[in-house]
Amino acid sequence: MKKILIMNGPNLNLLGVREKSIYGSQDFVSYFEALKQQFASLQLHYFQSNSEGALIDKIHEVGFDFDGIVLNAGAYTHTSVALGDAIAAITTPVVEVHISNVHQREEFRHHSFLAKNCQGVICGFGLDSYRLGIEALIK
Ligand code: DQA
Repeated sequence: MKKILIMNGPNLNLLGVREKSIYGSQDFVSYFEALKQQFASLQLHYFQSNSEGALIDKIHEVGFDFDGIVLNAGAYTHTSVALGDAIAAITTPVVEVHISNVHQREEFRHHSFLAKNCQGVICGFGLDSYRLGIEALIK
């Protein structure tokens, strides 16, 4: 069974509550349950942290063992050289995802410190970005 980790960074624990016009009104835990049913042939894991160090520790923990990581690093995408380096250091492929289309938003969201080290980037499809990320990893 393939092992895939979905990782959410800062403020994504507030999905369903936070800026609903941008991020929608569904909470991630209920969405994750639906994803698990949809991908019953996969071992799907979920990790969320608001802390950059905790995200890096988790990437190190699974990054030589899991078959893929779907990563929404939230605002750290645009600020964190360390997260980019963590992705470069591991062997597990990572797909960067965003719920919103970051390219339609403020200019500071247009740059990613992670993308270069990821297999690809998916953004702008709402929560469906995560499903598309999984599809890309298992293809
Ligand atoms: C986000 C986009 C980021 O710019 C923002 O900081 C987030 C969420 C997204 O999923 O659209 O926290 O990663």
